[in-house]
Amino acid sequence: MLVNMRNLLSDAQKGNYAVGSFSVANMEMVLGVLKAAQELKAPVILQIAEVRLKQSPLEVIGPLMVAAAKAAKTPVAVHFDHGKTIEKISQALELGFTSVMFDGSHLPLEENIAVTNEVINIASKYGAAVEAEIGCVGGSEDGSEDIAINCTDPDDAVRFARETGVDALAIAIGNAHGNYKSTPNLRFDILEKCAKAVEPPLVLHGGTGISPDDFVRCSKTGIKKINIATATFDSVEKTVHGCYNENSIKGYYDLQAAEVEGAYQNAKRHILIFGSDNKTEVL
Ligand code: 13P
Repeated sequence: MLVNMRNLLSDAQKGNYAVGSFSVANMEMVLGVLKAAQELKAPVILQIAEVRLKQSPLEVIGPLMVAAAKAAKTPVAVHFDHGKTIEKISQALELGFTSVMFDGSHLPLEENIAVTNEVINIASKYGAAVEAEIGCVGGSEDGSEDIAINCTDPDDAVRFARETGVDALAIAIGNAHGNYKSTPNLRFDILEKCAKAVEPPLVLHGGTGISPDDFVRCSKTGIKKINIATATFDSVEKTVHGCYNENSIKGYYDLQAAEVEGAYQNAKRHILIFGSDNKTEVL
């Protein structure tokens, strides 16, 4: 069932768990994530970032994501991740995405607030939720840029939330996109301050490589949406590799099944850590 992300995150706030937001690049990943969600009776978010549209055009993958969410037997929000342009954000909304992110983390605070408000105004016509980012999560979604981590100033986060009324706020606490070069040392002191002072649910980007203990601590300290991208892509690739090594891929459809399996296993593992299993009846 296609749902608004706002509802998923408000249920997660009440139930004190986090919802997995899984980046997808093709139908096999969509099917794998939804198989895990349905099996575990978990709400999930399917997302794709603007920088990934080179490989998976929005007008092709967007309708697929929305259709799969509508057909799913568990609540699914469809989210546009790291929106950079009003043009693409508007296209996602037209296609029926129930949530969009405007990433103005590189902008001065005032400008980030102003453009986020513009996006909120557009999204409100569709009833869609809006996520924004304050501070700077390291790296970039597709690994093309080595953006330095700039931890969120909790006072800025309070001002940002107050002046925008955004539905979800991504913060930077030492997290980064892609595989970490060394174990991340998350700034729980900053997270705790933000969680106490900021009303909207908080979002953790750069989920790949964060330890299960840290995920659990985050999910109990205000983080209600956790983004996972690289781990899914790696799991799909590794599963396919493993199947070739075992000689179990005899043709295209075995390859397709291995891709679905890779996405399924990764989503299942994360849903169980985030504590979002058994939170919904399978329809
Ligand atoms: P990872 O690739 O590190 O899992 O980050 C995902 C993400 O934050 C997408 O916005």
